Amino acid sequence: MALYPLLRPFAFALDAERAHRATIGALRLLPAGRPAEPDPVLSVQVAGLEFPNPVGLAAGFDKDAEVFRQMLGFGFGFVEVGTLTPLPQEGNPRPRLFRLAEDRAAINRMGFNNEGQSAALVRLRAPRHRGLVGVNIGANKDSADRIADYSAGVAAMTGVADYLTVNISSPNTPGLRDLQDAGALDALLMAVTEMRGAGPPIFLKVAPDLEPAQIDSIARIAIDRKIDALIVANTTIGRPSLKSRQRGEAGGLSGAPLKRLALERLRDFRRATGGALPLIAAGGIENGVDAFDRIRAGASLVQIYTALVYRGPGLAREICGELKRLLALGGFARLADAIGAEGGVSASAK
Ligand SMILES: Cc1cc2nc3c(=O)[nH]c(=O)nc-3n(C[C@H](O)[C@H](O)[C@H](O)COP(=O)(O)O)c2cc1C
Repeated sequence: MALYPLLRPFAFALDAERAHRATIGALRLLPAGRPAEPDPVLSVQVAGLEFPNPVGLAAGFDKDAEVFRQMLGFGFGFVEVGTLTPLPQEGNPRPRLFRLAEDRAAINRMGFNNEGQSAALVRLRAPRHRGLVGVNIGANKDSADRIADYSAGVAAMTGVADYLTVNISSPNTPGLRDLQDAGALDALLMAVTEMRGAGPPIFLKVAPDLEPAQIDSIARIAIDRKIDALIVANTTIGRPSLKSRQRGEAGGLSGAPLKRLALERLRDFRRATGGALPLIAAGGIENGVDAFDRIRAGASLVQIYTALVYRGPGLAREICGELKRLLALGGFARLADAIGAEGGVSASAK
């Protein structure tokens, strides 16, 4: 978007969360755009859905499903709204979102602030849009039974979501990441897949901060419980060396400094799943080269968030254009042929 470089200084003059709210407010004024048409080179099938291109908007940007139609109009192949919890909640005290401009990064400790599933449902229902919309679900902070919250999310969103994402990887709800432990994860995935029945595919979103044994156990349980794809990854609680003043803030780090870790984890999950599960890459993806690296490492789709803050919503189209050039240069006729190509396992072998 040619306008974005002009608008950015105004957005950056505001506190990061106010800038985000102003952006959502401005986007709401735009008419819903036309969703991307399937691209002959870039379109890809995952979990029985046809994605017109592989570049998605990651969860957290449109938490309350206010602007997904507009974002689809900017050329994203899919938009993931949420995280939505059964009941509305305030999230953590402000300030809780920090731009780390020198690092092209962000730190957030939002804590699942959202208006709750009922409010989002109204927006997701009508008018019917074309274009793929996933709904990311979570548990309320004070919930006595977190697994029941995820089941409630599946029940509520099944009719409106093209896919559901079970998010157990936010670092900002105390104890949430414990659901990645084997016993809890198995019980959770059993509950959500039972509740889903013949409903939409279920994706599982994991943290980048995992030990090898945890990666193996998550991969095994996800395959056994017939999860449809893994999203690798959420923000990190780690702190690679950072330059910005706000580097000491608590919360999850996203953007460029997450790139290496997220790519490593993607490779780990590719190895651990042996290609049995589609993978969706997130974390520090800023351009077509980053997206191409993840696809060759085994991702079928990619998602972006923090790079949008620095580059604007035209980034989805830009990445699609770069990806097409890189695929042609690499001798790949279609994106699907490049998935996992760095490991020597062709997509058709999956
Ligand atoms: C401000 C902010 C809020 C986020 N909120 C959520 C969320 O509600 N649910 C979720 O699954 N991920 C959330 N994320 C994580 C992103 O979806 C993504 O996994 C992560 O930021 C890494 O991608 P990126 O480096 O392109 O931003 C959030 C990220 C940011 C920066």
